[in-house]
Amino acid sequence: MSAASNGPSTSASSRELTHRRSAPLATPTDLAARATQDISAVLNAVLADVFALYLKTKNFHWHMSGPHFRDYHLMLDEQATELFAMTDPLAERCRKLGGPTLRSIGHIARTQRVLDNDAEYVEPADMLAELRDDNHGMAAQLRTAHDLCNEHRDIASAAMLEVWIDETERRTWFLFESTRNGGGAGRTTLAT
Ligand SMILES: [Fe+2]
Repeated sequence: MSAASNGPSTSASSRELTHRRSAPLATPTDLAARATQDISAVLNAVLADVFALYLKTKNFHWHMSGPHFRDYHLMLDEQATELFAMTDPLAERCRKLGGPTLRSIGHIARTQRVLDNDAEYVEPADMLAELRDDNHGMAAQLRTAHDLCNEHRDIASAAMLEVWIDETERRTWFLFESTRNGGGAGRTTLAT
């Protein structure tokens, strides 16, 4: 084919590609645009927290020490697995609503509210107490997200959040019980 015969179609194709690149990643939904923006924003904040708490839980799993090593090491691995399992459904829920989701480790770092702990050594009881408080805070964030979903009648997101609230309360319970009555130097009351 000659370049001349290719001209108009190439140009049209180029315009189409440009349009596709600039088109929003809008997934059809019957929810109002405002609802999808608000819900995906709150779910992305939860997602960043889940990634941060997942890595902190793994960090403490890897750096655990002391006489309860095996129990704590295994418990934190179970909890990390549970947290990681939340990430893909959360991200895909944002996309199903037509919102964007997280794109990088940097994006997580800019969005997370859970604080990292890069200390070289952390006492085992302090590790458990910190995770207990982080999970306790996460349950509250999940409940706030659930309220927003209910407000906008996003039943599917609300149903997913209900399961995660229960799991988060279970992690908090296990960590709470492991940090009292001889659990070591960690605080024995939940941070508020
Ligand atoms: Fe491991």
